[in-house]
Amino acid sequence: MFDDARALVGSAPPPISIDEFRSRQSRLFSQIGSDEIVILCSSPETIHSNDVHHPYRSQSDMIYLTGWYEPESVMFAECIDGVWKVTLFVQPKDTLKEIWEGRRPGVEGALKDWAVDFAYPIGDLRSRLGDAISRCSKVHHQTGIRNEIDSIVTDAIQLRGRARQMNGSGPVGIEDPSAKIAELRLRKSPAEIEQMRHASIISSIAHEAAMRSSMSGRTENQIQAIIEGFFVFAGTSGWAYPSIVGCGENATILHYKENNSPCGDDEIILIDAGSEFRGYASDITRSWPINGKFTDAQKELYQLVLDSQEAAIAECKVGNPFNAPHEAARRVLAEGLIKLGVITQNLEESLDNENGQLKNWYMHNTSHWIGLDVHDVGIYKPNGEPRLFESGMCLTVEPGLYFGSWRPDVDCPERYSNIGIRIEDDVLITESGPDVLTSSCPKTIAEIESIVGKSF
Ligand code: GLY
Ligand code: MN
Ligand code: MN
Repeated sequence: MFDDARALVGSAPPPISIDEFRSRQSRLFSQIGSDEIVILCSSPETIHSNDVHHPYRSQSDMIYLTGWYEPESVMFAECIDGVWKVTLFVQPKDTLKEIWEGRRPGVEGALKDWAVDFAYPIGDLRSRLGDAISRCSKVHHQTGIRNEIDSIVTDAIQLRGRARQMNGSGPVGIEDPSAKIAELRLRKSPAEIEQMRHASIISSIAHEAAMRSSMSGRTENQIQAIIEGFFVFAGTSGWAYPSIVGCGENATILHYKENNSPCGDDEIILIDAGSEFRGYASDITRSWPINGKFTDAQKELYQLVLDSQEAAIAECKVGNPFNAPHEAARRVLAEGLIKLGVITQNLEESLDNENGQLKNWYMHNTSHWIGLDVHDVGIYKPNGEPRLFESGMCLTVEPGLYFGSWRPDVDCPERYSNIGIRIEDDVLITESGPDVLTSSCPKTIAEIESIVGKSF
């Protein structure tokens, strides 16, 4: 099955260029004083058990500004004679370590293939950074990621503070640069969009493969294996977030994690799974009957969620506020549930955030930004008002309905008992309207019924 599907993925786009990393760096440095410095660090490695590490994934800000994915690394930038220079501190090449743990680009590799001006072994960090901090007026550094880097910064600042006490010029301050970087990351470049589109295509095919492998008697984990197997087969680094694979009442648990139940013959399976390609996330949810045929009740809810999603996607337009898709989805869902007799309030009452009945069945937001992080950075309400969409912004659109009859807090209508449906796509805002990056993933009732259980 995968051999045929591989042909559908197409070739991968070129990686982000060195020039683009330089331009990202320049856009950040243009907002920083010339006597200030910037420090970014890689995420710490985390332990699965004893000497086994979790798969490593660095900090997205570090990836965004340098493209450097290795652990135990720090980026540092300062302005020398009016020109910003970027230094990377990295794990040096070490044959014995590389025999055990894998290849390292080292100092030489960093200088040759990355957008940096200088590179040094990570062991030099304390002395070189200390020197730089002693010369600067402010350190842009996000504390709380790596304690040892925080202590280098605070120790150097304290030393500097004492020196400054002598000449009265006051202490050096620390400022978190992440809000400035988030504003840059919020607007995706054409090259970034191509990475995201590639991840989205792979995730779309993975969902289709999962649909095709569905049949009565499958278990959630078997379907999960198909989807995640395809992520790796197609050349991504794997999932962008742990997959949610839930059948029947498990589909009504928003962040269901166990993924280990057998699927009942007449149940809907809800899969929220997306791959990560060169650090960029995709995020898709599809819901389908495991046996390939929607019941009438499942169809009623499915079509309603799909209608609400299409109404929400139509709101993804330049100049619209960020909450426009959410409000459109809520309105369609509430109108539909009133027609189906589930909601007994009038439309306006049902939409009330405190006492409206809609939130019994639709309790989450419709959208989040997506990019290097699946829940990407970027303030939703700058100055307290919803942000207006601009070309290049990417968000998910993911309405759903969840009728868990196990819930003690609501009376679940018998007809819809234990049906959970979410439909999620990734949308790029463009001047010519919404561009759905995940549009190749099947989602109409007719498409799904013609695909489930049928091989490629
Ligand atoms: N996959 C997590 C989410 O949809 O937000
Ligand atoms: Mn999402
Ligand atoms: Mn999702």
